[in-house]
Amino acid sequence: MAESPAVLDQLESIETSALAELTSASDLGALAEWERAYLGSSGAITGVLRGMGQLPAELRPEVGRTANQVKQRLTTAYDGRKSDLQASALTGKLAAETLDVTLPGRTPLIGTVHPISQMIDEVSEIFAYLGFETVFGPEIEIGRYNFDMLNIPADHPARDVWDTIIVNDERDEVVLRTHTSPMQARVMEQRTAPLRVIVPGRVYRYEQQDASHEWMFHQIEGLALDDRITMADLKGTLTELARQLFGEDTRVRFRCDFFPFVEPGVEFAVSCPFCGGNGCRVCKQSGWIEMGGAGMVHPNVLRWVNYDPDTVQGWAFGLGVERLVMVKYGVNDIRAFAGNDLRFLRQFARADIGQGVVRA
Ligand code: FA5
Repeated sequence: MAESPAVLDQLESIETSALAELTSASDLGALAEWERAYLGSSGAITGVLRGMGQLPAELRPEVGRTANQVKQRLTTAYDGRKSDLQASALTGKLAAETLDVTLPGRTPLIGTVHPISQMIDEVSEIFAYLGFETVFGPEIEIGRYNFDMLNIPADHPARDVWDTIIVNDERDEVVLRTHTSPMQARVMEQRTAPLRVIVPGRVYRYEQQDASHEWMFHQIEGLALDDRITMADLKGTLTELARQLFGEDTRVRFRCDFFPFVEPGVEFAVSCPFCGGNGCRVCKQSGWIEMGGAGMVHPNVLRWVNYDPDTVQGWAFGLGVERLVMVKYGVNDIRAFAGNDLRFLRQFARADIGQGVVRA
């Protein structure tokens, strides 16, 4: 009988010290230690239960019941403490790993459509309205198309007018095209009249660069063939282009010029959109701004692609795209276009033109 209070006292003091230690277990590691010490298979409660065999039989039920009650209470306290510690561990982790989404992001660099491409698109649209299709041709050409088919035979002095960059002249002369005119013959070979096309694209010349000359620039070729197409249609078409680009009052001027692939040949100019033709700094006081060359397609050119010059006639023109942009936006140095200066290019950013268009 004397031992019974001692075991019960022991259980009571185990409970008291266990609960006190539990409150001071400050992390999940300390909690696991505590569980091993009190509730584990070699813990204090199990120790008491194991010693039951030494107790008088009549005490065992009460001691067993009390031990189980203590174990139950400690287990409940343990579970509560464990979920508290888990919650605060999670809160700590969240606080330590916070992502501050209020920081301003880095704006991605979005490109804009180059002013030359914008002008090509604009001109193509105007010509589409006039019934012209836009086609593209190779920038690396053979002499046959760049010269021969355009009535410029080898050794003809006119061949020197275009300062040609030659890629390979061992067998068939291979050149970087000096103008978009070679596409006249290429298109005529593939199609029959009537036809109306424009050909925008890059051209190359071995040329000294200055404020108005580049060694790589862009042209737009135009070609219209049918049975009765005349210079009057040419003037009407170019006048419509000039009006759409520079305003209703713009006029077009033709002056005699020579190109071996047209007869008659002209150079054409538009009245200066800045002074209305009165003379200013932009047009160098002349009232006119030169745009390109044009004329009636030479009968020889027609014959070489098996067209009959007695039944098919028409005109061709070639104009400089850089020149158009320079006049339209008052750019005074052609070298800016290929200079890759974003301060220049961003001035042409337009919200209404698609970003990142992949061009043919
Ligand atoms: C030609 O290239 C002819 N193929 C045009 C043509 C086509 C005539 C069809 C008749 C029929 P020209 O060399 O003049 O012509 O060049 C035409 C235009 O290209 C010039 O008016 C000018 O606007 C532009 N251009 C010529 N050279 C340069 C250059 N180095 N840099 C920038 N633009 C140039």
